[in-house]
Amino acid sequence: MKKILFAASEGVPFIKTGGLADVIGSLPKCIDKRYFDVRVVMPKYACMRQEMKDKMQYVTHFYMDFNYKSEYVGVLTAEVSGITFYFIDNEFYFNGGRPYSDDGLWEITKFAFFCKALLSILPTVDFRPDLIHCHDWQTGLVPVYLKERFQGGEFYRGIKTVMTIHNLKFQGKWDVKTVKHITGLPDYFFTPDKLECYKDANMLKGGLVYADAITTVSATYAEEIKTDFYGEGLNGLLCARSGSLRGIVNGIDYEEYNPETDRFLPYRYNAINFRKEKIKNKRALQKELGLEEDDRKFMIGVVSRLTDQKGFDLVAYMMDELCGDAIQLVVLGTGEEQYENMFRHYDWKYAGKVSANIYYSEEMSHKIYAGCDAFLMPSLFEPCGLSQLIALHYGTVPIVRETGGLRDTVEPYNEYESTGTGFSFSNYNAHEMLSAIRYAERIYYDKKREWNKIIDRAMAKDFSWHVSAEKYQEMYDWLIG
Ligand code: ADP
Ligand code: GLC
Repeated sequence: MKKILFAASEGVPFIKTGGLADVIGSLPKCIDKRYFDVRVVMPKYACMRQEMKDKMQYVTHFYMDFNYKSEYVGVLTAEVSGITFYFIDNEFYFNGGRPYSDDGLWEITKFAFFCKALLSILPTVDFRPDLIHCHDWQTGLVPVYLKERFQGGEFYRGIKTVMTIHNLKFQGKWDVKTVKHITGLPDYFFTPDKLECYKDANMLKGGLVYADAITTVSATYAEEIKTDFYGEGLNGLLCARSGSLRGIVNGIDYEEYNPETDRFLPYRYNAINFRKEKIKNKRALQKELGLEEDDRKFMIGVVSRLTDQKGFDLVAYMMDELCGDAIQLVVLGTGEEQYENMFRHYDWKYAGKVSANIYYSEEMSHKIYAGCDAFLMPSLFEPCGLSQLIALHYGTVPIVRETGGLRDTVEPYNEYESTGTGFSFSNYNAHEMLSAIRYAERIYYDKKREWNKIIDRAMAKDFSWHVSAEKYQEMYDWLIG
C-alpha cells in the first residue's frame, strides 16, 4: 500500500474559497484504495463552521520551534467519505473570519508555520507518507524543509514530493531577509537558482525547484505557463523543468454535482428529461431573484470569484450593450470591490433583467448552474476552471475564452458539423466576447433543436475524476517506484 499525503490550505467539506477546495475534497476519494492510502492535511481555521469542527477529534499536541519561538502545534483528525483528514491547530495563526487575509507578510508566516508543522506531526500520527502532494504556494516550503532539516532523520529520508500549481499568480513573496528569519532556512537556499526570485524570496519557487515532479491542472495551462504572458516571472524555471512538468485536467465530484440528485434543486433532471424539467428551475430562479418571469428569455449565469483573472473587465465594458439584448444575467460572487459594485449598479439599472448576488452560497450556486441557459466565463487566464465543468454537466452551455482548462474542456460549437459543447472566443477582447455571446443567443432563439443538441453533447461528456485520477496514480507509482 503506497501512502500519499495531500497538503493544502483548503478542502471541501471543511473550508472552501475556490476550486482548490473542490479538488482536495474530491480527488483523494477517486484514487484507487486497493493500492493507495491517501490522507489530507490542512489548517484548522477558526472560521470553519462549528458543525465541521465538531467532526474533529483531538489526537495530540506538542511544541515546535518556529520563528524564534516555541509554538503550539495541535493535531486533530476526522474521517469523511473514507478519507482521513488531519488538521493543524494553532489559534494564533489560523484565526480570523476568512482563511486568507490581505496581509502578505502574515500569510507567509502563517503558511511557513503550516509547512513546518505538517512535516513535524507525521511521526506523532504514525503516518509516514511515501509521497507528499503539495498544492499551491501555501505548501511550497514542504519540499524545501524536507530537503533541509528533515532529511537528517531516518523517518523523512526518501519521501518524494509533487508540487501542483492551481494558480501561478499567487506565489508567496517577501524580502529575503524577513523570510530567512521566519523560516529559519540557511543562506544556502536564498540564491536565484533556489528560493530567490527577482530579489525576493518566493515560497512557490522553492516548491517548484525541490519537488520531484510538477503538475498543473490542464494540458494547455502547462504549456501557457512556460511563456512570458502566463508565466508570472517563473516561466524560465518552468521551461527549465519542463521535463518534470505535466498537465492533468481536473474533474468534478459527481456525487456533489449531479442534476439528478442535487439536494439544492427545486426540480431535478437528467440528460433524458432536461427538455421538460430544466426549465422549471429557470422559472423558480426568476421568481426567487425577482427577474421577469419569462420562459423564453436567454438566461446567462456567472458564479465566480470577482477578480481580474476571471475577465470581468470585458464584461464591465460590454454591460450596456449586452443588456440591450433579450437576455437575463444572474451573477453570484464576491471579490474585488469594483466588480461587486459594477454588478450592483447594473442590477439597479436593469432591474428585472440583471440580478447581482454579492455573497457566497453553495445552494444558490447550484440553482444557477441548473436554472440558466448559458454560463459565462471569459477568463484572462484559467488553470483549469471547475465552473464550466459543472455547467456542462448541468446542461448549461458555457461561453468561454479559449485559455487554459477552458480551452481543453469546452469544445466550440460548429453548426456545419453539428459538434461542440459550448461557445468560445480566442482573444482577450470585449467585442469578441460579445460576438460569442450573441452567436449563442442566435442559436438559442432561432435554432432551438440545435441548442438542445449542444446540451445533449455537453451532458454526455464525462468530467468525473475517473481518467485524471488514473494519471495521478501512474505518476505516484513512477515516483515512488
Ligand atoms: P477558482 O478556483 O479560480 O475560483 P474554479 O472554477 O476552479 O475557479 O472553482 C470555483 C468554485 O467555487 C466552483 O465550485 C464555484 O461554484 C465556486 N464558487 C465561486 N464563487 C462562489 C460563490 N459566490 N458562491 C458559491 N460558490 C462559489
Ligand atoms: C485555481 C484556478 C482554477 C482551478 C482551481 C482548481 O483556483 O484558478 O482554474 O480550476 O484552482 O485546480
